[in-house]
Amino acid sequence: MAEDDKPLAPVTCTAPVNIAVIKYWGKRDEDLILPINSSLSVTLHQDQLRTTTTAVISRDFTEDRLWLNGKEADVGHPRLQSCLREMRRLARKRRGGGDSNGDNSGDPGPLSLAYKVHIASENNFPTAAGLASSAAGYACLVYTLARLYGVEGELSEVARQGSGSACRSMFGGFVQWIMGENADGKDSVAQQVAPETHWPQLRVLILVVSAEKKLVGSTAGMQTSVQTSLLLKHRAKAVVPERMAQMIEHIQQQDFEAFGKLTMKESNQFHATCLDTFPPIFYLNDVSKQVVALVHRFNGHHGKTKVAYTFDAGPNAVLFMLEDTVDEFVEVVKRSFPPEKNSDQFLTGLPVEAAAPSEELLSAVLTDPVPGAIQYLLLTKPGPGPVLVEDASCHLLGADGLPRSNR
Ligand code: DP6
Repeated sequence: MAEDDKPLAPVTCTAPVNIAVIKYWGKRDEDLILPINSSLSVTLHQDQLRTTTTAVISRDFTEDRLWLNGKEADVGHPRLQSCLREMRRLARKRRGGGDSNGDNSGDPGPLSLAYKVHIASENNFPTAAGLASSAAGYACLVYTLARLYGVEGELSEVARQGSGSACRSMFGGFVQWIMGENADGKDSVAQQVAPETHWPQLRVLILVVSAEKKLVGSTAGMQTSVQTSLLLKHRAKAVVPERMAQMIEHIQQQDFEAFGKLTMKESNQFHATCLDTFPPIFYLNDVSKQVVALVHRFNGHHGKTKVAYTFDAGPNAVLFMLEDTVDEFVEVVKRSFPPEKNSDQFLTGLPVEAAAPSEELLSAVLTDPVPGAIQYLLLTKPGPGPVLVEDASCHLLGADGLPRSNR
């Protein structure tokens, strides 16, 4: 059998979701996805939340094709095209700038860049739950293509062109996205601030408030904010630079009090810029606001910041706390927002022990319970960046290059 007749091995990788504690909101370049301010996030553990992507090339494929969560999707999406084009360009460059097929030996070889690619991607969490699926999705796409084409080096710049926040999912732990200054975006890249092992006691509790699709997507929402919000301009220029430096320091020092306070203020200012957008955008709903109030009552009772909330472009709350606070706080959440049904599936992710909070605490923080307001809780922690999956049984595409689940 000739070398290029061999079936080509698919490549499968997984990538994480991240949650910003210094928010990215607003672009200075829509095509290259260059932000108006730097941002910083915590990469969440892939044991709980991840995207898996398989990519394979074959000379038998007649077109590039894409499947998302088992359904064929439009491969012509401009952002997807940017990432594909960029990865093929880097692959060509790596091969010493050969011809347009990316090969300068005359032998097309098994990794010929002229071959079409099939890509399948799926999340292990509901896409519509608003848990930053585009960040994990584009990070996974870029990382998988890099492995497929043998591209190494700086990849966050490519992931950024899929979705801004995706560049931060290219690293584990605590990650900053430096806004950069250049018009070509070469200096607008993500960088790890501290690895996932840096703060072992840190936990992240996600309160899934609603699995509805969000009303205004981040891309459109931030466009309107850039056009209309003076508060956003002020924030990008005068607030974020200082907060970036402070946040990095709080993380390095593992100072939860300062980290938590700044995280909450950041979230609040982001949602204030949404209200300052014209017409205004509301991402927080009544349940989100009840969670904010509960966190402040809980912290108030303890006389320190034990729990910190942050919200992205949707009503779900993402809460930070140290591991010694988890059991007690989860009990408080259960009593405040008791599950209406499937109570055995209410708590997912890392294990939580039963706790019996003091009567004093309960009477200080509980108000009338709101049954069914929270669909489920997911407990996770900081985790690593994208990884290659060696186990061939995890490939989403079969030897024929078609989704395995569809057959
Ligand atoms: C509120 O990265 O989804 O989650 O670059 O247009 O794809 P695009 O936007 P996206 O925006 C994320 C906004 C945010 C804050 C953040 O993650 O920093």
